[in-house]
Amino acid sequence: MDTGVGSKAESSRRENPAFYHATRPVLLIVDDEPLGLKSMASVFEGQGYELVLAGSGHEAMQFVETGRPDVILLDVMMPGMDGLEACRRIRSHPGMAEIPILLVTALDDRQSRLEGLESGADDYITKPIDRDEVRARMRTITRLNRFRRLQEEIVYSRQTMAELREYSRRLDLLRRIDRAILRAGSAAEIAGQVLPLLRDLIPHSHAAIYRQEPRGQTLTLLAEDGSGQPLAKLEDRLELGDLGVAFEAGPESFCPVILLLGRGANLPVVPRQLHAAGIDVLMAIPLGHYDRMLGVLLLGGPGPASFSGPQTEIAKEVGGIISLALAHTELLENVTRSRSQLESLSHKLILVREEESRHIARELHDEIGQILAVLNLNLAAVKKGAGSEIARQSVDGCLDLVARLITKVRRLSLDLHPSLLDDFGLVTALRRHVESLADRTGLDLRFQADEGIGRLGTELETVCFRVVQEAITNALRHAEPGHLLIRLRPYAGKLELSVSDDGHGFDPEAALERSAGGGSLGLLGMRERVSLVSGELSIISAPGAGAVIKASFPLINTREEDHVP
Ligand SMILES: Nc1ncnc2c1ncn2[C@@H]1O[C@H](COP(=O)(O)OP(=O)(O)OP(=O)(O)O)[C@@H](O)[C@H]1O
Ligand SMILES: [Mg+2]
Repeated sequence: MDTGVGSKAESSRRENPAFYHATRPVLLIVDDEPLGLKSMASVFEGQGYELVLAGSGHEAMQFVETGRPDVILLDVMMPGMDGLEACRRIRSHPGMAEIPILLVTALDDRQSRLEGLESGADDYITKPIDRDEVRARMRTITRLNRFRRLQEEIVYSRQTMAELREYSRRLDLLRRIDRAILRAGSAAEIAGQVLPLLRDLIPHSHAAIYRQEPRGQTLTLLAEDGSGQPLAKLEDRLELGDLGVAFEAGPESFCPVILLLGRGANLPVVPRQLHAAGIDVLMAIPLGHYDRMLGVLLLGGPGPASFSGPQTEIAKEVGGIISLALAHTELLENVTRSRSQLESLSHKLILVREEESRHIARELHDEIGQILAVLNLNLAAVKKGAGSEIARQSVDGCLDLVARLITKVRRLSLDLHPSLLDDFGLVTALRRHVESLADRTGLDLRFQADEGIGRLGTELETVCFRVVQEAITNALRHAEPGHLLIRLRPYAGKLELSVSDDGHGFDPEAALERSAGGGSLGLLGMRERVSLVSGELSIISAPGAGAVIKASFPLINTREEDHVP
């Protein structure tokens, strides 16, 4: 059946949800008789209502579910679902029990009225209707209903606001915990930062975080918080069993366990200590990552009803955050430990290599050099006594070979370890090295050093010498420079060393990346050696712009006793 005004109003409601909040009360009129429907609608037209007309009980039910009318006017006598049945169904529907329903009955139909009231109707209107009386009653009903709804809405929005405020407070605290964790550098710092923030999130009177050793059952106390009261002074180290709580390892089992501490004397260590400090309930939140236990967060409350369900949930959430932070710290600690082991290994290697070079250099100089010198003298004597020109020529040849051998051995010995470095220090050794290279290559190599620089200690002097050696070799090998400048000077409490060339230049980052991939050793070795004496190395270069290798060292390493005569 065409319900005219009603169907149009209904479709516009469905399209626009905002319509439901219209200020005009919505009247749903239900009658299978079109004439009855029209006549009832005419009573309320122009009276400030939103009218929705339904031609059957089913149609009415459909609208009620989506449209939430303010009042329903139900004709009792309808085919199919009659008014009484519709009334019963509406009342049994959650959320619709409060909608006022008026039954429209015939004047003499007392039985229907009684049944109607029993089926949940609020009132009834008798036909034929008194238009003024019906309008007056409708005004009162809708006003009361609007008021009731308003009250409901106020209560609901107050609850929602309170819940929202609580949620945003918790979120804010969780965010502060996150930020605090980010600032913390170690497990103990994480625990120390998080515990005070937990006071507002889960009210408690005592809190502690223990960390479990990577292997084994031993727990170490990271931090304890008395929430303004004296600490329970928990043991610094204990075994998992001392908690009196059994956890099963596994991500699903990392759930808080609540323990009532009423029993006193027979309690395990931790519950006993907490009980003595006035704690009645202990919540133990296992901290774990994947299936590994990392520790435990303990919260103690003074009353038996200390921790509610939602608080247990929040505790689990916080436990998750702390667990992740602890897992990351552990990973970082492992990486840092391995790195420092590697560093000390590589430092040792450099020192061993340096010592070995020094030893071979001495052998070459003192042993082989001496033998060659004697050989030289002997050959000179043989030459004097030689009887024939041929013999003298071949001795000359031998003398020439020995002289070249002596030069080669001396150079090799100097390269391996310049004895000048041990005997006269860095400035002299570098000056001689640069001069000899300039002689050999014919290039413009200059050395500038502050004359006041004294002995700097074997390690620092050797590092500086090796850096210069490698930097010059690199420039000569890769850059075809016209000029090279080597400078050594104390500056702002540091020793500054630089090797600059005006050659081809290069991309230092790309070169270091290639070296790290096993491409070469020079630059990496330089960096290693410099870090060995707590120095810093910077490589400033770009293709076409020459290169500057700069190293700066703290001068505190200078020690007289380092000097090896
Ligand atoms: N002064 C420089 N001018 C131009 N390129 C340079 C200079 N110093 C280094 N490089 C570039 O950086 C790369 C890496 O230098 P590095 O000293 O590590 O290795 P290498 O000299 O090639 O080999 P080695 O391991 O024998 O020292 C060089 O191959 C070269 O391309
Ligand atoms: Mg090199």
